[in-house]
Amino acid sequence: MKTEDLKKLLESMTLEEKIGQMVQFDASFHETGEEVSLTGPAEAMGVTREQIEATGSILNTVGAEKLTAFQKQYLEKSRTKIPMLFMADIIYGYKTIFPIPLGLGATWNPDLVRECMDKVARESTAAGIHVTFSPMVDLVRDPRWGRVLESPGEDAYLNSRFARAMVEGFQGNLDEEHMASCVKHFAAYGAPEAGREYNTVDMSERRLRQDYLRSYQAAIDSGCEMVMSSFNTVDGIPASVNRTLMRDILRNEFGFGGVLISDYASIKEVINHGVAENEEEAALLAAEAGMDIDMMTDVYANHLKKLTEKGELDEELIDEGVMRILTLKNKLGLFEDPYRKASREREEKVVLCREHRELARKTAGEAIVLLENKNKALPLKEEEKIAVIGPYGDCGALIGMWAIHGDRKDTVTFKQGIEGRLQRSVPSAEGCGMLDDTSRLGDFAGLLEAFGTKSRDREEMLLEAEKTAREADTLILCLGEHTLVSGEAGSRGDLSLPKQQLALLDMAAALGKKVILVICAGRPLVLTEVREKADAILYTWFPGTEGGNALADILYGTVNPSGRLSMTFPYSVGQIPVYYNSFMTGRPYREEDSKNRFVSKYVDMPNEPLYPFGYGLSYTQFSYSSPILSRDEMVRGQTITASAEITNTGAYEGTETVQLYIRDMAGSVVRPVKELKGFQKVALKPGETKKVSFEIEEEMLKFYTKDMEYKAENGRFALFIGENSSVEQSVYFQLK
Ligand code: GLC
Repeated sequence: MKTEDLKKLLESMTLEEKIGQMVQFDASFHETGEEVSLTGPAEAMGVTREQIEATGSILNTVGAEKLTAFQKQYLEKSRTKIPMLFMADIIYGYKTIFPIPLGLGATWNPDLVRECMDKVARESTAAGIHVTFSPMVDLVRDPRWGRVLESPGEDAYLNSRFARAMVEGFQGNLDEEHMASCVKHFAAYGAPEAGREYNTVDMSERRLRQDYLRSYQAAIDSGCEMVMSSFNTVDGIPASVNRTLMRDILRNEFGFGGVLISDYASIKEVINHGVAENEEEAALLAAEAGMDIDMMTDVYANHLKKLTEKGELDEELIDEGVMRILTLKNKLGLFEDPYRKASREREEKVVLCREHRELARKTAGEAIVLLENKNKALPLKEEEKIAVIGPYGDCGALIGMWAIHGDRKDTVTFKQGIEGRLQRSVPSAEGCGMLDDTSRLGDFAGLLEAFGTKSRDREEMLLEAEKTAREADTLILCLGEHTLVSGEAGSRGDLSLPKQQLALLDMAAALGKKVILVICAGRPLVLTEVREKADAILYTWFPGTEGGNALADILYGTVNPSGRLSMTFPYSVGQIPVYYNSFMTGRPYREEDSKNRFVSKYVDMPNEPLYPFGYGLSYTQFSYSSPILSRDEMVRGQTITASAEITNTGAYEGTETVQLYIRDMAGSVVRPVKELKGFQKVALKPGETKKVSFEIEEEMLKFYTKDMEYKAENGRFALFIGENSSVEQSVYFQLK
């Protein structure tokens, strides 16, 4: 439809019809009689049938047949014939589930992730979805927060690369095999105090801009069609009604012209926050902040009309929001084809197809991180007599918390993957449950059964596992975090493995067998006491539908692990927040003066994390030359070339992620001890050497100065090229 026709359509709409476009409920509101499943404070709402039928989009209903029928019935009743938008949480997979985004971050391979999200879009659009509530690119530095699962990690530059790749993968050119993406959660939701879900976020504008806003901006610069507000406050004002954040920064500074949708009930929740006395005030504040769609509350439905009629809200603001919604529907071609060629046939052809499964397997293989490999315990030989022990040994729940449309029955379990590789059955035993305490799961406890979490006698399980273990030489111990304690509302104050799992590990370690520890989790866990008890540790994240095959590929060396952490693993919960690009402080701890009490350190543990950002092992080894610079002075507007030679000094072909870090030695404000500015994945055969080069540009050196100007300041910079963020070897250059 031409823009002028959209304008005419808008002019033809009644105020009720316009407001309807700004309201979104889930399917249970549209199908009477179904139990309304609500999260957040959205209780049973006093909305009328007319208001529900006037809504312009629907949340989390999927399936070509269902949505086609829905759209048909909806349009038959509609006077305006404006098609419904179908939106869903398809964060990292529809039916073919890829690794969780924290695992995708560990691939350090944005091109691969773009390809994955392209496949996700093809499956989702075949099932009738128009918009996905992804990518989530909240920067995360606190693994107590359950939603680190959904983020690419702790670094603004790396997150920005993935934000761009995911938007491009989901959206393509917005043809009917691609869908609009929605970057979230704007803004800084990943920094709740104490890692407690929905808790206060409070930081300086400098930190907000320097670290937390960059990945959202990257998504918007890549053409992301929608932004979702976050639950938290930003500078004391909830994001959903924060005009500075939404109008001054998002709209005016970032130039975002798309649709802004609230998070689930977040408009109503500003009453709980205490910045609105009542729903009417919440509606006004949100509309004035430029919030276009109210997700899952009655606030817009029941108050915008009155506010407009009383003259307290300018109808122009409603028109602007509705025009953005109509424009998105038009971009998706819904006026020409409200069904966008969604069909059962297309769904059956593309969903979980071989190509998608193979890509999921490849990606999981690049996401898995080898944390320990003592005495070359890995890769295994096929003739080794193994047993698969542990609650994750034969468990379909490898797809993680935010794969709500995926099916665990489609998963290749770790045991299945290993048996598929060996073409023989492998002894196994569950050994213990996945959770010590389910008392705080609340209404989620009812889901435990569906996860196959049955409570058996612990002693009996342990004895059974010991008996199985004694028969083997090598134990594949599959432990980890239960899906239901990760993800949204999955904050944890204790990040160690459950005690019964630790007991299983102690049993295995006491047998003197080779122990290969496989950990499945949605966040960095604290592995300090675990590290000594295993010969090797593989961190699989929630690896997705093909997790079992990917693990087998790595265990038997078909794939040489190349994953690198995109989030720091703490030595202890007490260190959190612990992240690589911190500040030096006035009394930095240095090994040489470790006797000095009065320096920035703990008296009961080291400062260093257990595993740093960028860390990961390979079956081979790599050596680095010192970095070499084409010049040691950079004139503004020119570049310097930084290079290093990387050699594969081991016996396996492998892929190394060469990482470039820079430190601004002195700025008008303190600057991090180092910052990631680039990376390259290079494949090297045994004995092969490659020269890896990076172009150093002035843009890389910019930051928010003491006057809050985003620019580079003259001075001395240290440059590092290494295998992870703990690299020390550096060279210096001067910016003139
Ligand atoms: C949830 C999440 C958000 C999701 C939305 C719709 O509470 O915060 O990420 O997209 O509601 O399900």
